[in-house]
Amino acid sequence: MKISLKVWRQKNSESKGAFKTYPVDDVSEDMSFLEMIDVLNESLVKKGEEPIAFDHDCREGICGMCSLYINGRPHGPLQTTTCQLHMRSFTDGEMITVEPWRANPFPVIKDLVVDRSAFDRIQQAGGYISVNTGGVPDANEIPIPKRIADEAFDSATCIGCGACVAACKNSSAVLFVGAMISKLALLPQGQVERKARAEKMVEQMDEEGFGSCTNTKACEAECPKDIKVTNIARLNREFFSAKVS
Ligand code: SF4
Ligand code: FES
Repeated sequence: MKISLKVWRQKNSESKGAFKTYPVDDVSEDMSFLEMIDVLNESLVKKGEEPIAFDHDCREGICGMCSLYINGRPHGPLQTTTCQLHMRSFTDGEMITVEPWRANPFPVIKDLVVDRSAFDRIQQAGGYISVNTGGVPDANEIPIPKRIADEAFDSATCIGCGACVAACKNSSAVLFVGAMISKLALLPQGQVERKARAEKMVEQMDEEGFGSCTNTKACEAECPKDIKVTNIARLNREFFSAKVS
């Protein structure tokens, strides 16, 4: 396949970025999207040009680093991570537009790389259990109903990629924060700090400048881990019950 890649290039956080178009030949439909950028970058380096900066780590859909906005959708045309997207999802001769996440709390560092440390600060504000739970207990020692365990596990599959924020017209982070709060609120170990956690994480989320939720569900539609908006409903319940008690 031959494609054209229209990529956002931006030297640093202070400079003004612009799109630049590159032809990429010899693209295999079995390549991942990131491998295709690797190929382009090799040719840019050979020509003495600056390679395109982009984030990645595991390339297995688990770290949440690969954050590209492809043809107007976070992670591209499929509901998966960018590293799990393959070139067979595109057509020969296609012009593919690649941008960084667009959200004020995720400022662009360089090219396609954004600073997502706002998510880390929300986690640091309360997304943990600090009570001493003793030694590692046997897995079956605390009986937890399967439905609850499954629900907590589903919330815990959030990889913190930020696609939900990028998809939202308000740059809201409530799907991410809802998942982080839910996975702990559902389990016995998360009960002691439950109220303080909801208050502190929501406060930090607001401080970082994320917008409000207006129920468009764009976040759920684009989340590569299929995190459901029921996590947002639980976040609201947790926050309100913390405030009124
Ligand atoms: S909720 Fe989904 S889209 Fe948002 S950070 Fe988690 S995995 Fe990514
Ligand atoms: S590189 Fe880790 S999820 Fe894509």
